[in-house]
Amino acid sequence: MTSHVVPGLEARFALAEAVAREAGAVALDYFKRRETLVIETKRDPQDVVSIADRDVENLIRARFNEAFPADGVLGEEYGLEEGTSGFTWVVDPIDGTSPFVNGMPNWCVSIGLLHDGVPVVGVISAPCHDELYAAAFGKGATLNGKKLSLDASRTIRNAVTGIGANNHVTPALVAGIVESLLEAGGNFIRNGSGALMLAYVAAGRLVGYYEPYMHAWDCMAGYCLVREAGGWYHPFPTVGEQLTKGAPVLAAAPGAIDDLRKLAGV
Ligand code: IPD
Ligand code: CA
Ligand code: CA
Repeated sequence: MTSHVVPGLEARFALAEAVAREAGAVALDYFKRRETLVIETKRDPQDVVSIADRDVENLIRARFNEAFPADGVLGEEYGLEEGTSGFTWVVDPIDGTSPFVNGMPNWCVSIGLLHDGVPVVGVISAPCHDELYAAAFGKGATLNGKKLSLDASRTIRNAVTGIGANNHVTPALVAGIVESLLEAGGNFIRNGSGALMLAYVAAGRLVGYYEPYMHAWDCMAGYCLVREAGGWYHPFPTVGEQLTKGAPVLAAAPGAIDDLRKLAGV
């Protein structure tokens, strides 16, 4: 992967940071007046969405379309618009919509960028915490400008692992994952935002994150952050239609890779 040359990365990275900040501010404004939002459900009553998600995604799409019209954009709310430049933006306007509409601060704006299938930019804005996570290929990862570097002595036994689940998978599968982690001497947390928990892996707060079925918009930014902080991720399929479908998501700090791959069976 170190040989992956990415012309045009700098300008896109700078734009991603600016757009994540702008989108984060718009989302935070909605969050502060969330009692006025009409909450709709998607797949089930736990899967919620509001005008905030759509407005924020529209804003992000407009900024990227304006600056880089040949780039593709995949967003959770409006799907895939193919490009011709080899770059595809992968956007979750609000990851953690359930915490968002229920008044909890665990949500974020997640902006990833793929170049020939590799996540080369990852920017996550967590406005309630005043945190901006940013990474670009070969340039390292930062949190509010401070370099992130993972500690190899942390394992699933001396640190906490993030676990996520949605109704694409069975209760029995989720229970089995939790059971295996506990049996191995670990423990888990789920805060309702998979993208934010991946950023926490990059920041060394969590030693890993596993969710058996998530989408590209949930993980691409986080994957770039984790890799650039010195961690590992299980590749997400990006070819053709696969990019819009769900797949297992796993990222880990160096000392947790083997245990979590065994647990996830990948
Ligand atoms: C969800 C969150 C949640 C994860 C789900 C995702 P959304 O995204 O990341 O933590 O468990 O699989 O769908 O709906 O809040 O954007
Ligand atoms: Ca999401
Ligand atoms: Ca979302």
